[in-house]
Amino acid sequence: MADELFAQTVAETLALIEDRLMEATVSQYSFVTEAAQHIVSAGGKRFRPALVVTAAHLGSDFDLDEVIGAALVMELTHVASLYHDDVMDEADLRRGVSSANNRYGNSTAILVGDYLFARASREVARLGPEYVDLQAQTFAELVEGQMAETTGPLAGEDPIDHHFKVLAGKTASLIRASALFGGMVGGVSDLALDALGRFGFEIGMVFQLSDDLIDIVSDTTGKTPGTDLREGIPTLPTLLLASSPAVGDHELAERIAAGLDDDGDLAEALAALRASAVIDQTRSEIARRASVARDYLTPLPAGPAKDMLDRLCDEVVTRSS
Ligand code: FPP
Ligand code: MG
Ligand code: MG
Repeated sequence: MADELFAQTVAETLALIEDRLMEATVSQYSFVTEAAQHIVSAGGKRFRPALVVTAAHLGSDFDLDEVIGAALVMELTHVASLYHDDVMDEADLRRGVSSANNRYGNSTAILVGDYLFARASREVARLGPEYVDLQAQTFAELVEGQMAETTGPLAGEDPIDHHFKVLAGKTASLIRASALFGGMVGGVSDLALDALGRFGFEIGMVFQLSDDLIDIVSDTTGKTPGTDLREGIPTLPTLLLASSPAVGDHELAERIAAGLDDDGDLAEALAALRASAVIDQTRSEIARRASVARDYLTPLPAGPAKDMLDRLCDEVVTRSS
């Protein structure tokens, strides 16, 4: 019962955050407002705000306004990064609607992404310098991760190690920051904050690994399936093909690396990849990391917030969209 009541409290706070997201994205120019709210109002899992709110409840003395502000900063930063990401990935669908670049063109998508980041920056300034510092460091890591994905591994670098560094930068950094922001506004102990940082990082890795797997195995994501494959973006399953002993996997890896512009070739490669053992190997890596994340929760104070983070470790493994 305590867990259900807690889930309801989190849901109520998330509803308030929805209102604040819409308010924070109003510009003096209606076109900017429309383009900024295009992806914000398309919904989304609100994973980062939920993590901020849940982590805040591990502490005892928080101000609801600050919790909402911290969640707002994380979601606005995330959406800003999606505007830029969809330009880089040439994605045409996001959260079930036309991506901002598809609808308004690349220049507008990039500038409106900047606008959203500016809105996040304004909110973070209200929280204090230690929040600005973490936000700035996280922004740098997001860019580094995204750039590392673009440049690929250095000569002699293991492609899978490089891939994990990419995921650490482009995704785990912001999810770690969300867990830390929650802990900071909640006023948790240093020990709990350290645990939250480690947990957030690892659950962030799991989140992106599942996201990439879902891009391959699911048809109901609100994004175009196989986008990574079409764009030649490496993911753990495609990287594992290179070291797979199974007949046909090397040839499949080469076909994917060569590019899959043609719809028929893409569908064929997607079907072959779905049937390969690398899918189960990826699932095992996701489960292993989720269990590492769960272990980091040990020092946190017992209660419904900790229980919710524990359940999250299962949800990120089993999610299908
Ligand atoms: C999605 O990855 C991309 C990210 C999570 C991070 C993108 C970061 C930047 C573009 C750096 C700039 C950041 C800001 C704040 C302006 P994906 O393409 O694998 O996921 P998808 O399937 O959701 O597209
Ligand atoms: Mg993308
Ligand atoms: Mg991308």
